[in-house]
Amino acid sequence: MRQRGIFISFEGSEGCGKSTQIGRLAETLKARNIPFVTAREPGGTDIGENIRQLLKHADVALCPHTELFLFAASRAQLVREVFKPALLNGISVITDRYFDSTAVYQGSARSLPSELVECVNRHAVDHCIPDITFLLDMDAALALKRATERHTEDEPEDRLEQEPADFYERVREAYLQRAQHEPGRFVVLDAKRSVDALSQTILKTLETRWPFQLRTP
Ligand code: TMP
Repeated sequence: MRQRGIFISFEGSEGCGKSTQIGRLAETLKARNIPFVTAREPGGTDIGENIRQLLKHADVALCPHTELFLFAASRAQLVREVFKPALLNGISVITDRYFDSTAVYQGSARSLPSELVECVNRHAVDHCIPDITFLLDMDAALALKRATERHTEDEPEDRLEQEPADFYERVREAYLQRAQHEPGRFVVLDAKRSVDALSQTILKTLETRWPFQLRTP
C-alpha cells in the first residue's frame, strides 16, 4: 500500500515570513524528488481563488458570519479537490494557512462563537487534519509593520490588513493558546530568527519525525 503523504500547515500573522519558509521547504523537497503540492488559503482551486478575491478585496463591509462561511467554502473545496486526493496518493501537502486561521481570525479576533467556528471548521476539513503545524510567532506590532511595508500604491493593503493593532494582538494570543492546547501538532518558532535558521529548524523537525519520507535517498 502506498504511504500517505505528509500534511504540513504554516500559520502566523501577516508579515511573519510564512511564504518565504514555504518557498524554502518546497525547493528542498523538489531537489529531493519528494512529491508534494502547495496551496494557500483562501484559494488553491478555481472557485477558491474567486472566493479569495471577494474576501481580500470586497469593497463592502463583510459581516463576520459571511467571512466565516466564505473561508470555509474555499477550504471545503480545497480539501476535497486537492488535499485528500494528494495525501491518499502519497503526495505531501504544504499549506499556507488552514483551519487554525479561521479559529483565530474569525473565532477569537472577530469574536464569533467558538462552537459555531469549530462546527464549520469540522465540516469544511472533513477529518483532514495537518500532521504538523508550524506557527511563526512574532510580536503583533512588528508583524503588522512588516506586512504593511511590502505594499505599494499599486498593491495596497487588503481588507484584513486594515484592521487595528489590537486585532493582531488577539490573533497572536489565540494562536499561542491553540499551540499550547495541541503541543503534538504545533511547533512554535520565533519568526524573528533569520530565514536560514528557521528553514533549517523546519527541515530538521520534519526529518526527525519522518526520517524515511524526508531524508535524501
Ligand atoms: P494572506 O494570504 O496574505 O495570509 O491573507 C489571508 C488573509 O485572510 C489574512 O489576513 C488572514 C485571513 N484569514 C482569515 O481571516 N481566516 C482564514 O480562515 C484564513 C485562511 C485567512
